Amino acid sequence: MSGSGSVVMITGAAGNLGRAVAEAFAAQGARLILVGGHRSSLAHAFPDAPGDWQLVDVDLTDRDATRQRLGETIANAGRLDALCAIAGGFHMGEAVHEMSAETWNQMMEVNVQTLLNTVQAAVPAMLAQGRGRIVTVGAASARQGVAAMGAYTAAKSTVMRLTEAMAAELGPKGINVNGVLPSVIDTPENRKAMPKADPSGWVKPADLAAVIRFLGSDEAAAVNGALIPVTGRG
Ligand SMILES: NC(=O)c1ccc[n+]([C@@H]2O[C@H](COP(=O)([O-])OP(=O)(O)OC[C@H]3O[C@@H](n4cnc5c(N)ncnc54)[C@H](OP(=O)(O)O)[C@@H]3O)[C@@H](O)[C@H]2O)c1
Repeated sequence: MSGSGSVVMITGAAGNLGRAVAEAFAAQGARLILVGGHRSSLAHAFPDAPGDWQLVDVDLTDRDATRQRLGETIANAGRLDALCAIAGGFHMGEAVHEMSAETWNQMMEVNVQTLLNTVQAAVPAMLAQGRGRIVTVGAASARQGVAAMGAYTAAKSTVMRLTEAMAAELGPKGINVNGVLPSVIDTPENRKAMPKADPSGWVKPADLAAVIRFLGSDEAAAVNGALIPVTGRG
């Protein structure tokens, strides 16, 4: 399904993990739909995108725009074999009793609303086909609440529960839904934010992308509703 010629949609495509996932699927000849918040980031990340790939800039927190843009794009592609819903964001620093409404809303919007809007745009095509794969991104740290990360861990917990709910709803209809739970990913941003940390135990984007590629493939046909910690050896 996710082999040569299959159609794979990746949100957060211009980000650290999104680029690695794009590379993993491109290596096996998939046709990619690369979704990001800004045209310029997508163009910068994929300067040599082949003509049969589609670059789609849309604010995934905007329900109507997401449905329209992704719906049109999937219709142009003719089908959608796998969706990797990677768009998300992180914020920490405030205790729950001091948390601003802005922090709460931003974490829920960027992590939860983006996922909801994306699946509402993409699942109808998969249901029509009677098959598909969806991979979401939670967080290993969100398996429980963490001090100063209340909004983030709550938002990613919601992503994880929605993943399980969708697996139960869609699995019987031929659509597998699974999630990965990464620990710290080895990104330039994390290296800059934690200059004293040893990044050797962090998860490499390519290693995480390999797990996502597997979950988006026919090889994972018997896996549904799994939330797989991908935490390296650190
Ligand atoms: N980095 C880590 O250590 C870590 C650990 C655990 C989980 N995760 C999760 O892994 C995923 C990828 O992380 P990353 O480090 O690759 O993040 P990243 O580099 O910041 O990339 C995130 C991408 O999401 C897109 N995005 C955000 N809001 C959007 C919106 N409203 N509409 C459209 N696109 C939007 C951004 O696109 P634009 O820039 O164009 O807006 C960006 O390309 C995220 O879900 C993150 O929460 C990361």
